Amino acid sequence: MAGLDGKELILGVSGSIAAYKAVYLLRELTRRGARVTVCLTDHASRFVGPLTFRTLSGRPVLTDLFDPQSDAAVEHVALAERADALIVAPATANVLAKAAHGLADDFLSTLLLAARCPVLMAPAMDGGMWDHAAVVTNVATLRQRGVVVLDPDAGALASGLAGRGRLPESDVIIETLLGMLTAVRDLTGERVLVTAGPTRESIDPVRFITNRSSGKMGYRIAAAARRRGADVVLVSGPTGLTPPAGALFVPVDSAEEMREAVLQHLPKTTIVIKAAAVADYRVRQQATEKIKGKRDLTLDLVPNPDILAEVAARKTGAFIVGFAAETNDLAANARAKLEAKGIDLLVGNDVSRRDIGFDAEDNEVLLVDRWGGAEALPRMPKDAVADAVLSRVLALRATAVAKVRR
Ligand code: CTP
Repeated sequence: MAGLDGKELILGVSGSIAAYKAVYLLRELTRRGARVTVCLTDHASRFVGPLTFRTLSGRPVLTDLFDPQSDAAVEHVALAERADALIVAPATANVLAKAAHGLADDFLSTLLLAARCPVLMAPAMDGGMWDHAAVVTNVATLRQRGVVVLDPDAGALASGLAGRGRLPESDVIIETLLGMLTAVRDLTGERVLVTAGPTRESIDPVRFITNRSSGKMGYRIAAAARRRGADVVLVSGPTGLTPPAGALFVPVDSAEEMREAVLQHLPKTTIVIKAAAVADYRVRQQATEKIKGKRDLTLDLVPNPDILAEVAARKTGAFIVGFAAETNDLAANARAKLEAKGIDLLVGNDVSRRDIGFDAEDNEVLLVDRWGGAEALPRMPKDAVADAVLSRVLALRATAVAKVRR
């Protein structure tokens, strides 16, 4: 199963105001089971002190290459040789230049020369620098050499300028890293349609009905499918999440919009995964003006179309996966829902537990399939759940096809 469990990583942090974001990145890497050694440049340690990184990584932080008290330099060159990956986040224009030219005048640049593992660099720099001919050439040199250099995000920069230069989101860095560490491309040639997030059903111009859903599970599935080589369409209700790079992103608001988008993209889809928390009802007549007053109000609700059941009924040949959020009798309710909706696999989770599901980072699910199988997965990070669901789809489809052929 793809993940970061037990991976040996080096996180290089260079001197940008975005250095504080490396703290969050480190926390996320270790939470996912990676063992991380942090290397700070001199400038980085002026933005965030080594103690923060030492505490969170549980390891000494590499700072001064020429510390006469330690033989860390020799030891850690050896570490660079056996690491699974080296990440530099943030990577300043200066570090990119040093890496491109093979300079080794401090710990991080020395590690970059010693590393035999995949290298991922996540740049952050002030407005305009990213487009400077020198930076463009250095990035091209590094990419040609096989270093993965992410494009920085666009937006407001610390200097007050706006432009492309913000450190990419941790999610994007980690997804890219997972992709670099996972060689499996077992979804190549597949077209996976994923729905995620809640839907919003307007009552009037300022109010809406919605469901509780962060969208994380669906986004992780979309990212995992993409990483494993699939063409991915992500139809998503409103969430604060960044869609995975390379997926076709279709933002929607209401259940009806989601239905339209799903049906539009259904042809050629080989796997449908409906992780969205679709609102079951919408108001019969949306008010065109804001509803006033503090008096009692009765809403006239009508049921929304059941997108999952409709997709299953079309029998396009796609493998269909649904999700069920249950608060009791998970196994029985999951099987009943699988049968009622006529789908192939149902991923059930118990949303009465606070530590899993909804906004949590982890999930613990029960996989119930049409062929009578039921498998309870242990609690694990949502990206590992995503990989497990995709692997299960491939395994079930292969056995179903084999049975038909027999
Ligand atoms: N779903 C859908 N369209 C709807 C409602 C749900 O496509 N209008 C999909 C969800 O994306 C999910 C699955 O159906 O994959 C289960 O959703 P859930 O709300 O748990 O089930 P319901 O069918 O709404 O049943 P109930 O509310 O009675 O539990």
